[in-house]
Amino acid sequence: MILLLGATGYIGEAFAKELQRRKKEFIPLSRAQVDYTRFDLLLDFLKAKSPAFVINAAGYTGKPNVDACELDKAGTLLGNALLPQTIAHACAAAGIPWGHVSSGCIYSGAKIFENGSVRTEKDMSQPAMRALVAQAPQNIRGFTETDTPNFSFRDQPCSFYSGTKALGEEAMSGMGQSYIWRLRIPFDEFDNKRNYLSKVQRYAKVYDNVNSISHRADYVKACLDTWEQRAPFGIYNVTNPGFVTTRHVVETLAKVLQPKHEFEYWSSDAEFYKVAAKTPRSNCVMDVSKLLATGVKIRGVEEALEDSLKNWKPE
Ligand SMILES: NC(=O)c1ccc[n+]([C@@H]2O[C@H](COP(=O)([O-])OP(=O)(O)OC[C@H]3O[C@@H](n4cnc5c(N)ncnc54)[C@H](OP(=O)(O)O)[C@@H]3O)[C@@H](O)[C@H]2O)c1
Repeated sequence: MILLLGATGYIGEAFAKELQRRKKEFIPLSRAQVDYTRFDLLLDFLKAKSPAFVINAAGYTGKPNVDACELDKAGTLLGNALLPQTIAHACAAAGIPWGHVSSGCIYSGAKIFENGSVRTEKDMSQPAMRALVAQAPQNIRGFTETDTPNFSFRDQPCSFYSGTKALGEEAMSGMGQSYIWRLRIPFDEFDNKRNYLSKVQRYAKVYDNVNSISHRADYVKACLDTWEQRAPFGIYNVTNPGFVTTRHVVETLAKVLQPKHEFEYWSSDAEFYKVAAKTPRSNCVMDVSKLLATGVKIRGVEEALEDSLKNWKPE
């Protein structure tokens, strides 16, 4: 039996759906039933039910966006840093392996291969980087699991949300047996205010940048596969291989869905941050070769994007 924490959430419900599809026995646990954020209650529950594996899809995401975390820093810290630490301790005490939904938002930018060397570029929105994306995308690589987060409290600026996600990873490290599955900008074919493709359609103006993104069902499948295939415990970037620019997403969306309105873009980062955003945003490219090397399969970002739009289900 698998214990699923945070099953009521956007990512948790995708795990529940996939576990049902695989006919796996699982308990979806909500804080309303048992306050699993409390070590004593969680450990008692683990001892009573003896799950073979625990999935933590619980956490604090700002709604409607990450700016909201700046207004509830204690809640953000509790949900994203203290909760994984509590689960890590409880699972280690009970001898149960577990997987944690983390985020790629602890990075900013990408790695650039130029003249035989590699460097990190934190700001991919600069004109020179936009040109590189268009002309030599093969020279742009993602952050790997061994790269130290560069959008965190230890490497500022960062949003409070991202800072707590990086702290959460640190807080659970070296304890028991666990997976850290890094998700990034979830999307799929189901229109939903949490879906990136829905958000892009509803923004008054679009913020253009470069990102790796995760199809929600592909993500949960890949995460469950790491456990089912007994991939070594550790950190895994779980995005659809490759990256997209927001402009490319908008163009694909316009081609497939043919919305009536024209899309507008923020003219610059300065305008975006002055008018529409309070805290810095993470935009980054992730490297998924570690996940793929385990034998776990996940389709490329272009295929996942086109498929989601072709099968679009309006709310
Ligand atoms: N959505 C994204 O864009 C995104 C991107 C990257 C990573 N992530 C990560 O994915 C995880 C799940 O995100 P989500 O989008 O599914 O969030 P969500 O829809 O808000 O659901 C999170 C669930 O976590 C539980 N929870 C436990 N402690 C909480 C707390 N202190 N504050 C709020 N909720 C708490 C709640 O379930 P109960 O109260 O029923 O137990 C809630 O339904 C988070 O760790 C998040 O950082 C999300």
